Amino acid sequence: MFQSPYSPYSPQDKQSFAYDTVIRRWPIIITNIIDHVHRLVHDMTMESQNFTNDVTDDSMRDMKLRIEEGKVIIAKASRLKYRMARDQELEKIPEDGEFYTDEYNAELEELAKEMKNTWFSALWLFAECYLYRLFRSFFKETACWVDFDPFFAQKEEMFKNSAAAIHQIATTMHELESEKEKLIEDPDKLFVLFKEMVQMCLWGNATDLSLLTHLTPSDIENLQTVGTDAQQARKEFILKDDQEAVWNHVQALKPREGAVAQCDFVLDNAGFELFTDLVFADFLVTCTPYISKVVFHPKLFPWFVSDVTPTDFYKTIESLLSPTFFSANSAVTSESVQHLKQMVERWQRYLKEGVFCLSTELEDGDKKTQFWTGPWPYWYMEERANELQQWFTGSSLVIFKGDLNYRKLTGDVKWPVSTPFSTALGPLAGSFPLLSLRTNKADVVVGVPQEVADELDEKDKSWKVNGKYALVSFLPKGP
Ligand code: F6P
Ligand code: MG
Repeated sequence: MFQSPYSPYSPQDKQSFAYDTVIRRWPIIITNIIDHVHRLVHDMTMESQNFTNDVTDDSMRDMKLRIEEGKVIIAKASRLKYRMARDQELEKIPEDGEFYTDEYNAELEELAKEMKNTWFSALWLFAECYLYRLFRSFFKETACWVDFDPFFAQKEEMFKNSAAAIHQIATTMHELESEKEKLIEDPDKLFVLFKEMVQMCLWGNATDLSLLTHLTPSDIENLQTVGTDAQQARKEFILKDDQEAVWNHVQALKPREGAVAQCDFVLDNAGFELFTDLVFADFLVTCTPYISKVVFHPKLFPWFVSDVTPTDFYKTIESLLSPTFFSANSAVTSESVQHLKQMVERWQRYLKEGVFCLSTELEDGDKKTQFWTGPWPYWYMEERANELQQWFTGSSLVIFKGDLNYRKLTGDVKWPVSTPFSTALGPLAGSFPLLSLRTNKADVVVGVPQEVADELDEKDKSWKVNGKYALVSFLPKGP
């Protein structure tokens, strides 16, 4: 078993973001779940009081059961919040039929031996994954709420407000698609576009729309200049920038006629970020000759509030095609609506043809997907999720999106910032071509020169957690 030479982040350090998360952020997340379920239970109670005689006994019974079970969920969540605030023990995950009950409980026993099994003493990464697995048990143990996603409404609300950027990006893709023959013959131009795509996908993780650039048709004429300028403006925020190395890798793929060149996206958040992932995937497949298939890896159940579940994935496609989904926005024109429709219909075709697919739809799909809702650093992928690791060995590029994936890739330990990315990956390094696109939202950072970190510490104390800075980290396959 790989052991890093540094200790993991823990809320015991009061200066850490881990501490801030346990003391401030998690109670808010729990309260939001309580409020949300409470509101639904209240509405159902009102409705049931107004039931008329034409309501069948069955639906009456269903409603009553849903209300009762909702109250139990509220009680469990309230109890959890109480125990967390008092630094009490993390309780066993109940036998709810969901994945990894025994594994989480075995880890808990190990933590108990070290007296690290309370909310403020447990390792941050473990405790946070455990929290979402525990939430899952609240719903999994019911008859009526088993498929309920307590974060769905929040995810949708955020997405509704992204109309302007979504339609602008759709127009850009429309331009690119119509130029694809020329683009394929112009590698320099393709490289500039590739970087635009990487950065759109990267900043999509910050959900900070203001950082996105838009390419107008005339921009396409002057791509290199405009692209270079735009990238220059953002460059100081990308503290590790391996874009050129990824591009060199992708360009060298040159798949043989008829052979499949597969790219895997280990997804992070739903809504706008998922949209940017789909656009990047579309660009790779449609506008370059290097990738012919993309597999998207979602979470099997609601996770870290905003992460993509299979339901979110298909709902996103549906919402993008709905004429009434997005909030009104003056930047949306009839042309851009048309461009969006064309693009999303292409995605639907790709999904039908298997050019795009979800990991859950592969053979042994759940087995290849459950690892993302486990508590472990990705150092242990080979022993904990061998099939998944094997799958990635056949991939031309595996893209890990977002902050939590980065924490798991690096084990969420206190590496010195100048540690090479390859060292922080432990035994995973070199297993498959790996690209991590992450905006900084937690303490762990590697691959950044010490002097750059020192300067940032002076200039912007919260640079590791405020989402303004980012890391593009690439490591090819190999020894
Ligand atoms: O709660 C902490 C955290 O894990 C942070 O690392 C980050 O702010 C968030 O949750 C998840 O971010 P992301 O969606 O980018 O993985
Ligand atoms: Mg997330």
